[in-house]
Amino acid sequence: MEEIIGVVGAGTMGNGIAQVAARAGYSVVLRDVKDEFLERGLSAIDRSLQRDVDKQRLGEEEKRAVLSRVKATTEMDDLAGAGFVVEAVTENFEVKAEIFRGLDRLTRPEAILASNTSSISITKLGAATRRPDKVIGMHFMNPVPVMKLVEIIRGIATSDETYDRTRALTERLEKIPLECNDSPGFVSNRVLMPMINEAIFALHESVAPRESIDGIMKLGMNHPMGPLTLADFIGLDVCLAILNVLHTELGDPKYRPCPLLKRYVDAGWLGRKTGRGFYEYER
Ligand code: 3HC
Repeated sequence: MEEIIGVVGAGTMGNGIAQVAARAGYSVVLRDVKDEFLERGLSAIDRSLQRDVDKQRLGEEEKRAVLSRVKATTEMDDLAGAGFVVEAVTENFEVKAEIFRGLDRLTRPEAILASNTSSISITKLGAATRRPDKVIGMHFMNPVPVMKLVEIIRGIATSDETYDRTRALTERLEKIPLECNDSPGFVSNRVLMPMINEAIFALHESVAPRESIDGIMKLGMNHPMGPLTLADFIGLDVCLAILNVLHTELGDPKYRPCPLLKRYVDAGWLGRKTGRGFYEYER
């Protein structure tokens, strides 16, 4: 049923999802609003596949075949033939809801509409469509080609059949699906973001310099990256948006975003993608 996978949004998550789907043998339609976003997404896929070619885990020809399975487009209508669409655009409810309304109009009635949202309600996105039983959360982790987990989120109306098809697809993408219910931040960000926020408070209150905060968590807890490095990697704007959802929706002051995080986002210091966050990066 899901021979053609649609991906909306060619950013970090969207191009990663398109890559793993194409690598698993699916035809992929990758849609974004501008050609330059698509070009950037396609070159990220190329670079990521090239790592595997260099490490002799993928042949040149196979790489070309994977790339040829990704069709990039700025037209929403090109998603009409997809049996399964994953939306991976900015973390803004109105923007996502508009896309879901559009997908609902143009795709076949049996198509599943999934969101890669990190914290927005799947139930609310489902309610924007006439097929809430076919709306589900599929939360991939960054970097998508490397990370095994996909958090699968069931909205209140998501059917068992939709869940089963989503789980089966996730496994075909060689990922591990873990289920959770629709609640702000789901499990991953409900646990991760307060840790990152606390690390930012520790920096803000001069408990230790950035390198010590990260080093303590990396060496002491065996995390692959310290929390400030991870925040830069995720994007400080994304971290702030998720914390705002947790704070507003759960109403508990323990989720209050650290003022330093807000200040960095106001300054446009969004982490790795802008060359500056808690650390400086070459671009
Ligand atoms: N694409 C493809 N492969 C990549 C990659 C990318 N973007 N980035 C790294 N890799 C691969 C490398 O090729 C390498 O593969 P190999 O070991 O099989 O040869 C492997 O990943 C390790 O990479 P490196 O040696 O270059 O670097 P590290 O060992 O430092 O690993 C990392 C990089 C995998 C990013 C690791 O630091 C890590 O796991 N960090 C934590 C990531 C994390 O927590 N992600 C979740 C973020 S939260 C999220 O996404 C949810 C959202 O809602 C906020």
